[in-house]
Amino acid sequence: MEENKKPLHVGIIMDGNGRWAVSRGKKRSYGHNAGSANVDRIVTHAFQNGIKTLTLYAFSAENWARPQEEVDELMRLLKVYFKKFIKKIIKNKVRLFVMGDLTKLTDDLQKTIKECMDASAQYTEHVLNIAINYGGRQEIVYAVNRLIKKGQEITVDGISQELYTAQFGEPDLIIRTGGEMRISNFMLYQGAYSELYFTDVLWPDFSETELDKALESFVGRKRRFGKI
Ligand code: FPP
Repeated sequence: MEENKKPLHVGIIMDGNGRWAVSRGKKRSYGHNAGSANVDRIVTHAFQNGIKTLTLYAFSAENWARPQEEVDELMRLLKVYFKKFIKKIIKNKVRLFVMGDLTKLTDDLQKTIKECMDASAQYTEHVLNIAINYGGRQEIVYAVNRLIKKGQEITVDGISQELYTAQFGEPDLIIRTGGEMRISNFMLYQGAYSELYFTDVLWPDFSETELDKALESFVGRKRRFGKI
């Protein structure tokens, strides 16, 4: 069996911001700022290395339970990120998509996200998909409910087609930084056959070289999709 080609769709669970900051004697928010700065670096490198779709887990449906100050800082960083994104849409030709239940976000953030999504919808070469107030279980329930509302039978393919990511396909590779070896409700349905890559490197330290290591690991694997 041939080795893999490079992955086209990569998902990243960006973990470890808090520990990165605490180990420097700083507040967790400091780590989220550093993590946010790292997003652009990795997005650029990913798109330069043949990845077409990059899905980033920025805020889980469970993250609301964090201290309010931390939630506020993450929402502020996301807003800053999208405002900057708007300015660069034409130059970068990257399509932005945000998946999750966005109704819980402030009106202002929802509006900014919609502007980014609408203004970049015509680009097909690269997709940056950011998961906000996202949970994989919630997404499956959302997809099934959509099928029920349409009066359609619940099938494996039917659910796939109603997921947020239906148009972007399934991730070939899911990377988790920060040392934990779990999926934490990320892309549960579409990740059924994704290759997994775990690294102890904390997200703010996850450099271009670290991404290269993950991509090399993927290329060296044999995917069987349940077959022999
Ligand atoms: C996990 O680290 C990280 C998050 C919950 C948020 C990820 C957010 C960013 C990288 C910044 C904003 C994102 C974008 C797309 C601009 P943690 O806080 O769980 O770290 P810990 O495990 O060390 O506590």
